[in-house]
Amino acid sequence: MVATDVDRQKLAQLRGGHVPFYEPGLEELVRQGLATGRLRFTSEWVRVAQGPAVVFICVGTPPRETGEANLLAVERAAEMLARHATRPMVVVEKSTVPAGTATRIAETLARHNGKVEFAVVSNPEFLREGSAVEDSLHPSRILVGSDSPNALATMRELYAPLREAGSSWVETDVRTAELAKHACNAFLSMKISYANALARVCELAGADVLAVADAMGSDDRIGRSYLDAGLGYGGYCFPKDLEAFRRLAARLGYDFGLLEEVARINDQAVQWTFRKVQEVLWNLEEKRVALLGLAFKPGTDDTRLSPALALAEQLLRAGAVVVGYDPEAGGNAKSDVPDMDVVGDVYAALDGAHCAVICTGWEEFGRLDLPRARRIMAFPIVIDGRNILDREAMARERFTYLPTGRPPVRPWSAS
Ligand code: UDX
Repeated sequence: MVATDVDRQKLAQLRGGHVPFYEPGLEELVRQGLATGRLRFTSEWVRVAQGPAVVFICVGTPPRETGEANLLAVERAAEMLARHATRPMVVVEKSTVPAGTATRIAETLARHNGKVEFAVVSNPEFLREGSAVEDSLHPSRILVGSDSPNALATMRELYAPLREAGSSWVETDVRTAELAKHACNAFLSMKISYANALARVCELAGADVLAVADAMGSDDRIGRSYLDAGLGYGGYCFPKDLEAFRRLAARLGYDFGLLEEVARINDQAVQWTFRKVQEVLWNLEEKRVALLGLAFKPGTDDTRLSPALALAEQLLRAGAVVVGYDPEAGGNAKSDVPDMDVVGDVYAALDGAHCAVICTGWEEFGRLDLPRARRIMAFPIVIDGRNILDREAMARERFTYLPTGRPPVRPWSAS
């Protein structure tokens, strides 16, 4: 397998066996590939375009100011492939793109090279950051869409080992595969927003959102996953995919208002948590707020569109001193929000804090030494934006504990 990128620094790092971001197990896999010679990194397009019969386009598709996906890198990659290709090639669209992009890729390839026969395949990626290796090597399903029977046959052959290992195989036309990716991400975002809206109602009604989610999840038709209420979804996929899907539908002539509501509830999750800090601390000026977890989810150092950073910015605007800690994402968070103090240890973050907010559900926060935390905090107040602490233990240690969508523990108001 041969891989390329326009970023030469990244290529050099990868050639040296270093992955430029944190993803469990990935570096070992890359090193294995390099050592056995099965994986090579090159800056020469000729090697990519003239060697393999199947080429995956995996470039980034960041959102533009308008919210639509910026597909320039996809077009450039297709153009470079076309310029250098000399024999028939299956070009696989792996980047997350709006439906209709495969047609654009096919046009671009044909425009820049009328001699070679190209077939375009959509093969949406469903891996999650933090479990990317496992998700890639043992995917629950593989979705492949193309209008070319030959290209579909090639893909079937390519994925044979994973299919034999038990991954289910879904084959469609190219537009359906593209649309299915939008549909999956939007549906999962909708489940999370549903849970967050439920959390609001549970707090007002004195009910427990975790128990409600469990009750819902025990119904096979609903399923328990993606029903965890909290600070909301972030990262580079859900927020931008949802917006891109809404815009795509609008462009096609359908107003998918449900998706707008999903995004609104998600933004509100951060706002709701901010208001809890305000309510419990009264004036925020000069109050020290510890944010535990800065990555958009555990298991990654990715802080892109992280709800934790949105909360940090709001707190800073309100005059609070914000101290953040994350086992992996501290460096990225510091460059995103320079006014936040970032420390390298969870207890350093808690030291002198008037309140702590759990923003990312890293396992280590579930194992906090509670008596120690209580001793070093200025006020023993914890807002659990991911519902990972044990309510009873927090009550025992006489913390003011405000989970999300669950009854709070307020020792000072208990008679
Ligand atoms: C997502 C999709 O799951 C994956 O299929 C797609 O390929 C890329 O986008 P990823 O962004 O890596 O993957 O993370 P995921 O684990 O799905 O979580 C996304 C966000 O939702 C995180 O911020 C997470 O904290 C949040 N989340 C998830 C919740 O708030 N509640 C939940 O119940 C589940």
